[in-house]
Amino acid sequence: MKILLFGGSGQLGFELKKRASDLDFELVSPVTKELDITDRDQVIKLITTLKPTTVINSAAYTAVDRAEEEQERAFAINADGVRNIAEGCKKSDARLIHISTDYVFDGLSGQALAEGDPTRPLSVYGRSKLAGEDYVREVCGDRGLVVRTQALYGQKGVNFVHTMLKLFGERDVLKIVNDQYVSPTWAGWLAEVLLDLVRLPVSGTLHASCDGVVSWFDFAVEIQRLSAESFEGRPMAVLEPTTAADLNRPAKRPTFSAFDTSRLTAVLGRAPMGWRTALETFLSEIGVR
Ligand SMILES: NC(=O)c1ccc[n+]([C@@H]2O[C@H](COP(=O)([O-])OP(=O)(O)OC[C@H]3O[C@@H](n4cnc5c(N)ncnc54)[C@H](OP(=O)(O)O)[C@@H]3O)[C@@H](O)[C@H]2O)c1
Repeated sequence: MKILLFGGSGQLGFELKKRASDLDFELVSPVTKELDITDRDQVIKLITTLKPTTVINSAAYTAVDRAEEEQERAFAINADGVRNIAEGCKKSDARLIHISTDYVFDGLSGQALAEGDPTRPLSVYGRSKLAGEDYVREVCGDRGLVVRTQALYGQKGVNFVHTMLKLFGERDVLKIVNDQYVSPTWAGWLAEVLLDLVRLPVSGTLHASCDGVVSWFDFAVEIQRLSAESFEGRPMAVLEPTTAADLNRPAKRPTFSAFDTSRLTAVLGRAPMGWRTALETFLSEIGVR
């Protein structure tokens, strides 16, 4: 099966590329310099020439706070770029698996979020990603699948786990938000799920995160506990809980993002990996445990 991957140089793209050949997929992934998804003609030409069975779109404008000032750029990539890919897929009858985010929700219900729950993005990034989702549904119909995920971390790129491991050794005190809750999701686990989905006839929207929910503060506490040995007695930052209001970042985030993953469990025939097990696996993989 031939997969065309957009966003192969990113955090999730890296994990997808690492696993695809072991699972007997032929995976082609142009770098951004060769192919910018905002270039409609190039995108359509590539898809119709290459004729992949499935396109995975992991390319996105992901600078959540900067997007508040770069609305046009965020929409050009996360909405118009996705429309270009969707149109290319439609022309060549390829299936499209598109990655989206929990930031399409406000997370105010305090309940695990199901695929059909009402969306209400609180940020430019969230609105741009929702617009991209809408194009997938509109253009691809049942040849499209929107996979929403959240709080990703993997080997490559800047993410919460890497940032914590770095700051534990550099700071005396670290203030971490304790009133926003997520299901931290290992990009390695998600990559395996996405490659399983390539072989399964599923369309619409699917929530895919590791299992369980935790505040960012408690997530940091667990990262510190699991990585303490690797600091070999060197001092580690003291963690202090704070609030999102105190931190006052430019983009508002959802308060409670945990997903209801029962559709994913039914589709795959297995439950998602628990967030703690996933974190342990990841830390072992990068040699921190
Ligand atoms: N990170 C998270 O916590 C998180 C949470 C929920 C959902 N998601 C979603 O998951 C997906 C993957 O995220 P990630 O963490 O892997 O993101 P990432 O590390 O920021 O990677 C984004 C990728 O998109 C590419 N890209 C950006 N603009 C492009 C353009 N105009 N044309 C072509 N490629 C372009 C980047 O290429 P360059 O390297 O060349 O710029 C990079 O390969 C995204 O859809 C994101 O919205 C992420």
